[in-house]
Amino acid sequence: MPLLLGAYFFLLLSLVSASLTTEYYKQLISQESAKALLYQLPKKNEEFRTGFESNAINDYGEYDVVIVGAGTAGCVLATRLSEIAKISILLIEAGGEENDFNQMTALWPYNQFSEFNWGYYTTPQKHSCLGMYNSQCIIVRGKVIGGGSSINGAMYVRGNCKDYDNWAALGNRGWSCKEVLPYFKKSENSQVEGDEGYHGIGGFWNIEHPQPLSALYEHFVNASLETNLNFVDYNGRTQIGVGKVQTDIRRGRRQSFGMAFLNNARKRSNLKVVTKALVTKITIDRRSKRATGVEFVTRSQKFRVRARKEVIVSAGAINTPQLLMLSGIGPRNHLIDMKIPLVVDLPVGKNLIEHPGVNLIVRSNYTAPNISMEESVEQYLNGFGPLTKGANAEGISFFHTRNNSTEGPAIQIVMTSPSNIDPVIFQRTQNYNNTIAELFSKQLQSQAVMAWYVLLLHEKSRGQIQLQSNSPIDFPNIDLNMLKEREDVDVLTEGMQYLLRLLQTEAFKKVNATMLDAPMCGNRGKNLKQYLECYIRNLGATGYHPCGTAAMGPDPRKFVVDDKLRVHGVGNLRVVDASVFPLGISGNTNAPTAMVAEKGADIIKSELK
Ligand SMILES: Cc1cc2nc3c(=O)[nH]c(=O)nc-3n(C[C@H](O)[C@H](O)[C@H](O)COP(=O)(O)OP(=O)(O)OC[C@H]3O[C@@H](n4cnc5c(N)ncnc54)[C@H](O)[C@@H]3O)c2cc1C
Ligand SMILES: *[C@@H]1O[C@H](CO)[C@@H](O)[C@H](O)[C@H]1NC(C)=O
Ligand SMILES: *[C@@H]1O[C@H](CO)[C@@H](O)[C@H](O)[C@H]1NC(C)=O
Ligand SMILES: *[C@@H]1O[C@H](CO)[C@@H](O)[C@H](O)[C@H]1NC(C)=O
Ligand SMILES: *[C@@H]1O[C@H](CO)[C@@H](O)[C@H](O)[C@H]1NC(C)=O
Ligand SMILES: *[C@@H]1O[C@H](CO)[C@@H](O)[C@H](O)[C@H]1NC(C)=O
Ligand SMILES: *[C@@H]1O[C@H](CO)[C@@H](O)[C@H](O)[C@H]1NC(C)=O
Ligand SMILES: *[C@@H]1O[C@H](CO)[C@@H](O)[C@H](O)[C@H]1NC(C)=O
Repeated sequence: MPLLLGAYFFLLLSLVSASLTTEYYKQLISQESAKALLYQLPKKNEEFRTGFESNAINDYGEYDVVIVGAGTAGCVLATRLSEIAKISILLIEAGGEENDFNQMTALWPYNQFSEFNWGYYTTPQKHSCLGMYNSQCIIVRGKVIGGGSSINGAMYVRGNCKDYDNWAALGNRGWSCKEVLPYFKKSENSQVEGDEGYHGIGGFWNIEHPQPLSALYEHFVNASLETNLNFVDYNGRTQIGVGKVQTDIRRGRRQSFGMAFLNNARKRSNLKVVTKALVTKITIDRRSKRATGVEFVTRSQKFRVRARKEVIVSAGAINTPQLLMLSGIGPRNHLIDMKIPLVVDLPVGKNLIEHPGVNLIVRSNYTAPNISMEESVEQYLNGFGPLTKGANAEGISFFHTRNNSTEGPAIQIVMTSPSNIDPVIFQRTQNYNNTIAELFSKQLQSQAVMAWYVLLLHEKSRGQIQLQSNSPIDFPNIDLNMLKEREDVDVLTEGMQYLLRLLQTEAFKKVNATMLDAPMCGNRGKNLKQYLECYIRNLGATGYHPCGTAAMGPDPRKFVVDDKLRVHGVGNLRVVDASVFPLGISGNTNAPTAMVAEKGADIIKSELK
């Protein structure tokens, strides 16, 4: 009897606590999404002004290695380097800790309007972003432990073998496809139905297929097969084809690099992590041209810390070039204009590469099941359901539009499941001006529409990052310069034409799939190419994949770091993040960044031993 009673109470307690948890998540979701609708992104790093302007500099002591930025790369580095107990490491991050909300990958748009995003926009653009307020696209950048990996779409994509062979062909020893594959596998704990020999098991980073997928996923695969693509593991033997999305989640929860990597290392006594601290300068001994440490500020105080062995900059493709330039490393004339004493003249901030992306609305007569919030949360807590789907993605395809044997695929398509898209948050994530927003918003609130992406993977145009002033309180100027080159518009147009063909397949005709039109671009039937070019230039935005701004290569006139990721001409200073990609990736950039950091950590460890 007492035993039974005990079991009864236990059951009752766990039922009560389960419903309390459900209630907590329901409230969290409604609170955070309501906040995001009103949140105003900052225009400067104002929160750090008092610290920056304070006169006293406090001594923060000395570490072997100081890492700037706890994003994707910084978390991998700190975790791997701290495996050597005798190396002391300081990891400095401008943002704060993650929370329960950002673990729900499907809610990623809301994180873009929170303190987890730096708040950048491009400079007004001439060739793209024309339907956005003031022709400015939003540039989302993670400002939180985990960086981009804590707020991104969680799609796990490695790119194409040719991407890395092309890095090696520039003179980067050790970076060919065959040589980097082990580093992709090293991070990974794969749960996917993948090709044998291509996936890692037992790594820190869990990769799974989200589930369940909508009925439209099968239509997408069948339609793609009709266009002669093969079904593939796009992270396996062959990338080109159509596949089921692989995402970085673990039992449905986001696997940011804070969760997957850094949490393993934070208890180690040789690693210290400082959050809510902005690094404002790398200190460099001007005679020996060696990095000696960094200066950083909190809300109210200023600090200096010394690095015995080296400083590693992992601040991401926008902030890394900003910090290098603030420290005197960059293009001579620009630094003279900014009144910053030159340390070395390097093409920092040039070669800004993006994936111009068109976010388009597809509608069909398939309607997603109407699941209550309560049920969604309960499913989430059990590791499945709509809240676990990164960016709602289900299917991905990669293909060439022209025969090109020297590059990876030209186009990536991401098929997402129907979901009730909040028109206000959608407008905010795209920065659509009112004319465009009005056009789309009426159509969005429906269980029948999907926001798909068409990405141009190898743009020929290049943008650049420059400083606005010599103050770290000011944001950098980000000029993406997308679609400047004619070829980029032509190839992206071919990608859009493919998509229209895809919607005309038997598989999609079965569900009457159509693309939402953009009436201000005229009549689609009359002059399709002109219509699509207008669509792309007005509604196209970014794929959230900036890279290349501190590119790796042997010649210091063209590149910023060498193939050991050391900054040309400055001792004890490395860059390890997406800035070092010399050429673009045939896919999303998170896994490639983790690979660079895994390999970078091995290079550094072999030198420190
Ligand atoms: C909205 C969005 C969606 C995306 N979707 C995907 C996806 O689905 N799949 C995918 O593979 N990739 C995706 N990406 C891209 C991917 O997340 C990034 O390429 C990757 O996170 C880059 O890693 P990183 O280490 O170079 O930089 P980050 O992860 O950006 O890390 C830089 C870190 O440095 C910190 N920092 C910067 N400056 C300073 C400073 N001065 N002082 C202190 N700290 C500083 C930042 O706060 C940040 O935490 C997405 C990105 C975004 C923003
Ligand atoms: C929005 O952008 C479109 C396309 O460029 C343009 O036609 C329209 O005038 C703009 N509307 C506003 C309010 O800026
Ligand atoms: C997809 O194709 C397969 C094989 O031809 C078929 O069995 C299946 O019913 C198709 N699915 C849909 C949703 O049309
Ligand atoms: C979905 O269900 C909710 C209640 O759970 C209801 O208010 C709403 O009208 C339903 N929506 C549709 C499209 O059926
Ligand atoms: C690519 O080459 C093949 C064979 O060489 C040819 O059949 C095909 O039409 C070409 N495709 C394109 C897009 O040029
Ligand atoms: C193929 O890619 C190379 C390398 O970027 C480029 O120079 C060339 O123009 C491309 N060829 C075609 C046919 O698109
Ligand atoms: C969806 O559209 C197709 C083709 O137009 C039609 O045959 C089918 O009956 C429709 N299905 C539903 C559920 O409306
Ligand atoms: C197909 O969809 C379009 C637009 O969404 C709609 O106008 C049309 O009536 C639909 N056709 C059928 C047969 O359902």
